[in-house]
Amino acid sequence: MSIQLSTEFSAPFYTKEKYEKIVPEAQKALETVRAHYAAGQDPLGWFTLPEDYDREELARIKVCAADIRKKCDVFVVIGIGGSYLGARAAIEFLQGNFHNSLRKDGPEIYFAGTSVDGDYLADLLKVCEGKDICINVISKSGTTTEPAIAFRVFRDLIEAKYGKEEAKGRIYVTTDKNIKPGTLKEFATAEGYESFVVPGNIGGRYSVLTAVGLLPIAVSGADVEAMLAGALEAKKEFAENDIEKNICMKYAALRNLFYRDGKKFEMYASYSPAMELMGEWLKQLYGESEGKDGKGIFPVSAIYSRDLHSLGQYVQEGERTMFETILQIAKPAVDFPIPKADADIDGLGYLEGKNMDFVNKNAFRGTALAHQDGGVPTIVLSIDCADEANFGYMVYFFELACAISGYMLEVDPFNQPGVEAYKKNMFRLLGKPGYTK
Ligand code: PA5
Repeated sequence: MSIQLSTEFSAPFYTKEKYEKIVPEAQKALETVRAHYAAGQDPLGWFTLPEDYDREELARIKVCAADIRKKCDVFVVIGIGGSYLGARAAIEFLQGNFHNSLRKDGPEIYFAGTSVDGDYLADLLKVCEGKDICINVISKSGTTTEPAIAFRVFRDLIEAKYGKEEAKGRIYVTTDKNIKPGTLKEFATAEGYESFVVPGNIGGRYSVLTAVGLLPIAVSGADVEAMLAGALEAKKEFAENDIEKNICMKYAALRNLFYRDGKKFEMYASYSPAMELMGEWLKQLYGESEGKDGKGIFPVSAIYSRDLHSLGQYVQEGERTMFETILQIAKPAVDFPIPKADADIDGLGYLEGKNMDFVNKNAFRGTALAHQDGGVPTIVLSIDCADEANFGYMVYFFELACAISGYMLEVDPFNQPGVEAYKKNMFRLLGKPGYTK
């Protein structure tokens, strides 16, 4: 497994002097990651997770996942932000956009608790009608309103369908390990639900390789051990201090270089629709980690070619404040040929004998050249293939790059104080006790 970083379409936008000036800052930021981890200063548990994850918990995850795969038709994952994005990104990356329809064994997997939209929940309940259900409610704090409401709805459904005792064997909880009053952990303990731990020193958006992501991913049938092995490989590779041998540090350096040059937006784009949720995961990881103290690169995401026909106009000619990071899959799973036709009525004869990936990679090159002409630097990150090891490797790459980049920006990449503001207003408007003013 590996990621290749190409600066073919971004190097024309910076000088050797500018690059050499920023390199020591990136090296210092990597040192800060190590120093803060050693001092227990920041929630950096993810930094060594590929080496020191809880093996007993992983074994339990695998046993429960196998059991869930046998006993239900529908598995509903309830969580928001870091408590669902990584799992969903992994499942779509590995199994594609139609994973539920194409699944040969194991349950269909759906996600809830990301909004308080009644229509969404009502539709999902219809999907579950007449089917056996298990749920996994995930919340590190155990107090987040959106998943709590969805949990209440699905708990009622499961208890009504199976009775309270059998329902207990269909409800899985992933949360903080400490029992605090009014939290999910307190409830799970009282009810006797099977529970998994979100380690205290790993923040939500850095938690995909804990039970938060691994239980749903294992239920999808994916090999979670291979995923952790991929992350471990990345951890070893990205310990390197020489920036030319450490593309994780280089990526962090380049994005800060562009930011200082007035490129305030980073477009994460992929030519593989299966990476759409990866884009969502990246937006949360980088947006929540960096957007604070009046600073930060604003992450956006797109799927090309689709969004070249919507956002493409802006990227090419709008305000010149953007750089792009393209996520490529070097080798697609299927070598899909362009079909032959008897007559060339559609004018595609020149593509006969070629495959879709050839067209897709040229769509990418053509776009990158156009965007370069339009003043948009493009960093290219190319992943070998869409398997578990590469997913784990990629997760570690982006988590470490995010921490390095956050320290370079001189923000705390692990807190999210701004997320509280909307909650306070919402609670006041809803009349939650203690939030009247
Ligand atoms: O990164 C984070 O910590 C957040 O985005 C959380 O994942 C998100 O707010 C959900 O929180 P919780 O898991 O406590 O319900």
